[in-house]
Amino acid sequence: MRVLVTGGAGYIGSVVAAQLLESGHDVSVLDDLSTGHREAVPEGCRFVEGGIRERAADVLAGHGIEAVLHFAARSVVPESMARPERYWDGNVGCTLALLEAMRTNGVARIVFSSTAAVYGEPESAEIGEDAPVRPGNPYGATKAAIDTALTEFARMHGIGAASLRYFNVAGAYAGLGERHDPETHLIPIVLQVALGRRESVAVYGEDYPTADGTCVRDYIHVADLAEAHLLALDACRPGEHRVYNLGNGTGFSVRQVVDVCREVTGRPVPAVAADRRPGDPAVLVASSERARRELGWTPRRPELRRIVADAWDFHTGGDSAGRPAG
Ligand code: UFG
Repeated sequence: MRVLVTGGAGYIGSVVAAQLLESGHDVSVLDDLSTGHREAVPEGCRFVEGGIRERAADVLAGHGIEAVLHFAARSVVPESMARPERYWDGNVGCTLALLEAMRTNGVARIVFSSTAAVYGEPESAEIGEDAPVRPGNPYGATKAAIDTALTEFARMHGIGAASLRYFNVAGAYAGLGERHDPETHLIPIVLQVALGRRESVAVYGEDYPTADGTCVRDYIHVADLAEAHLLALDACRPGEHRVYNLGNGTGFSVRQVVDVCREVTGRPVPAVAADRRPGDPAVLVASSERARRELGWTPRRPELRRIVADAWDFHTGGDSAGRPAG
């Protein structure tokens, strides 16, 4: 299939672009490089530098695109709280422009990067897709708004859409890993400490109602997450908008993550207790039953140790993260 990957120079978009190529798809990447890296775009992709509003229609028409995988977005929660207008414009506004470009060019399939942040502070331990959507920050609110728009576009314009709600994505694949600046995510920060690039990791809150008092999250390997995108792409049906939560269904506390990083790296990782970070729910664990049942998705790299090891290989320039999917 001829596909467009928006945000294909970013962490998750580049991994999905790599897997699409491996599966024989013709891949175009559109990215404005505001947070992505040109060298992360896998060789074999057609690369167009630019914004969605400026370039999406041309790319869709010029390359006979049949489906879009839409990753390009702003995704830093604290920034979204300080500057919500950037998120409404950059996420919702740009996605509406993309959907309009798709409509005018007869592109009727889209797989969208949604997030567990749409659920806010959940009521139950394992979050299914029917859990109430009540985001606790503008980032989650913009993703929830796009999910709603996709439902309406499927109903009114007959597109086939899938929203994939990611839990905590980590690890690396084929030499492609996480490189945010500034970095806010736990595993890369802990690995920076192991590398001696930071003195310590701050543990944000030790008084949560969890076994060791620190927040619990569901970590999913980026390669497993990417595989779900290819399955969702195949499953898109005209007039349907499907929603899937993607996680392993197992929670690890911040303290447990730090311990696994110490084991994998064999290096000391000083951890310092700090205040809670505003907006952090105590526990976020996915129920991915629907993705397993309807898409036939099975995460093949569920062990946290493997996830951290692949991230460590990426950060240390090792090559085992480049091993073929398996
Ligand atoms: N944490 C620390 N110290 C750090 C960084 C993080 O203790 O230096 C803690 C956080 O407080 C949290 C856990 O580690 O409890 C994981 O934090 P991350 O920032 O790695 O990830 P989040 O769970 O906050 O965020 C992820 C995605 C968001 C998405 C959210 C859904 O990165 O995009 O899940 O809730 F919105």
